[in-house]
Amino acid sequence: MQKLNIAFFASHGGSNMQAIIDAIKANNINAVPVLVISNNSNSGAIERAKNESIKYYHISRLNFSTDEEFEAYLLQVLKDEKIDIIILAGYMKMVPISIINHFKGRILNIHPALLPKFGGKGMYGMNVHKAVIEAKENISGATVHVVDEIYDNGRILAQMTVPVYETDTAEDLQKRVLAIEHIIYPDTVAKIANGEIVL
Ligand code: GRF
Repeated sequence: MQKLNIAFFASHGGSNMQAIIDAIKANNINAVPVLVISNNSNSGAIERAKNESIKYYHISRLNFSTDEEFEAYLLQVLKDEKIDIIILAGYMKMVPISIINHFKGRILNIHPALLPKFGGKGMYGMNVHKAVIEAKENISGATVHVVDEIYDNGRILAQMTVPVYETDTAEDLQKRVLAIEHIIYPDTVAKIANGEIVL
């Protein structure tokens, strides 16, 4: 099979992106990490791209006068680089609808809870883990899903669970969930790249 050309969209640390890059380097994913796009010029994700010699772009809506110009530029970059699949890895912006339509079913996200629970607007970062603890859940986990025009709504491709202990702080839970994110995300991308999961 042809290698998958991946574009990562990331806003912060990029540890999930790194886990996928590492799996590609270990020949566990039949893919090429073609580029990293970040809305944040100081993001850890851009640092990681530099360290890995992956092309990176700082593309922020703030640097364009209209949505149309911003979206046209973003789409052109993705087309020029022959991107097959977009992987959101801690991307804190809504992906523009024109990009979602162009890449229909080929944009992935990871959410740090067991969707459809604890998803939707405002459910990101530590808010998710706090809500899980407040709801006194016994299990939480991570979900890899396809991105559509509604937050945390698209087809679920994989889930993995972790226990939640009574003594957990949101930070404890975040660490436990992040550790399995680094397993489930590369694993799901590998299955897409080898045809086991069809998008
Ligand atoms: C992860 O918790 C992921 O579930 C969420 O954003 C966080 C990104 O972390 N979508 P990192 O930037 O990959 O370290």
